[in-house]
Amino acid sequence: MIYYINTYGCQMNIHESEKLAGMLEELGYTPCAEEKDADIILFNTCCIRETAEQKIYGHIGTMKKLKLNNKNLIVALCGCMTQQEGVQSAIRSRYPYVDIVLGTGNISMLPEAINKVRANRKNKVFDESYIKGSEDAMPLTRTSAPNAWVNIIYGCNNFCSYCIVPYVRGRERSRSMSDIVAEVKKLVAEGYKEITLLGQNVNSYGNDLGDGTNFSKLLNEIGKIEGKFRVRFMSSHPKDLTQDVIDAVRNNKNICNSIHLPVQSGSNDVLRRMNRRYTRERYLEQIRAIRESLPDVGITTDIMVGFPGETEQDFQDTLDLVRQAEYSSAFCFIYSRRKGTPAYSMENQIPYVEKQRRIQLLLKTQNEITKKLSSQMQGKVYEVLAEDINPKYPDTYCGRTENGRLVNFRCDFNPVGQFVNVVVEQARSATLWGRAVKED
Ligand code: SAH
Ligand code: SF4
Ligand code: F3S
Repeated sequence: MIYYINTYGCQMNIHESEKLAGMLEELGYTPCAEEKDADIILFNTCCIRETAEQKIYGHIGTMKKLKLNNKNLIVALCGCMTQQEGVQSAIRSRYPYVDIVLGTGNISMLPEAINKVRANRKNKVFDESYIKGSEDAMPLTRTSAPNAWVNIIYGCNNFCSYCIVPYVRGRERSRSMSDIVAEVKKLVAEGYKEITLLGQNVNSYGNDLGDGTNFSKLLNEIGKIEGKFRVRFMSSHPKDLTQDVIDAVRNNKNICNSIHLPVQSGSNDVLRRMNRRYTRERYLEQIRAIRESLPDVGITTDIMVGFPGETEQDFQDTLDLVRQAEYSSAFCFIYSRRKGTPAYSMENQIPYVEKQRRIQLLLKTQNEITKKLSSQMQGKVYEVLAEDINPKYPDTYCGRTENGRLVNFRCDFNPVGQFVNVVVEQARSATLWGRAVKED
């Protein structure tokens, strides 16, 4: 019995797929490299933008042919897309070869659903019920060593006016601090070298626990764990990032000098209509405070162009903010209309060609900044966690600096999974090239 998982979307989905894999392996399934060899194919879906959704529907469509070749193939869907209104019925009518659809709050039902379908191939399981606490009580097959993901908070309460996540992932639910600390301790003991704490807004960690727990306390507890490892976290909502979190990053040597602080827009009017609840001035002040406390910090962001009603001046304000913030990199998106969100019905939706023009200009502006920051790294030595053999140039390795920059480098031995010092030799673009050097 063989499985294949298609994962779409964010880090949280990548980690969730490790839970899906864990459950399948407990049932006796083993993974395979190609879809066509599988007895069960899972889609862990995303609906953050229309392009993501279209891609997934196209991909599900290809299951028809695979099913013709293998009558016993089971096709299962879970993840954010399944939680949108009307999707389950659309799947039933347009993709009758899908056997299982689960929601985002009940993936622990997967084994039961598979057994039902295996018992009688006419059975289908379409169920989006929510099972409290089900996110944690499951086995895990980790796939990204030396990195490991750890959920700290699920769901989102922020309702940014463009975003579908609060509707498909529900309200915020924090895990207990003792569970998280125990998981990190176990991972470090098992040899994982980089732990990434995950949440839609890690800064609201603990708010729902009502016992005074908060994100900086969690970071300080994790910082006490012995061993050579790194901790990252994402994402930080600027409205909730406080100085005590920045201090926790500074005071704990295991916590990386790296902050992902999605800004979305540099225009106060757009930020207000996005319901982001901060101003560009406050955001830039935060960036200043971060740089003051954390020299050599890497700050990254998410930015959107073409939000409804975004004027040329609003867009120029975004470019200006990007120049001032000096991000080491930015994930840039074209606004996508999501049914059910307030921005869907806002006036002045921006034409596609104009959104394209804006994103090209934004990418160009950010590339120039990344190049400038890269050139400042040339000739310096950085501690890099070697993550893998470079797939494009197999005689080199790739890894990240503490502040989050990707470096390709040569090394006399296979350093994968270890920390090595790397001198940056070439830094003309976003990609850094270097070679491992001995510690002195
Ligand atoms: N919780 C995280 C982001 C999750 S979604 C945060 O608030 O930072 C990741 C990114 O996708 C967002 O930061 C945003 O830039 C982008 N995004 C979300 N909804 C979008 C939409 N409707 N169209 C385009 N991009 C979107
Ligand atoms: Fe979406 Fe905003 Fe929540 Fe991020 S904070 S997941 S952008 S609603
Ligand atoms: Fe992530 Fe996409 Fe869901 S970005 S939370 S998988 S909508």
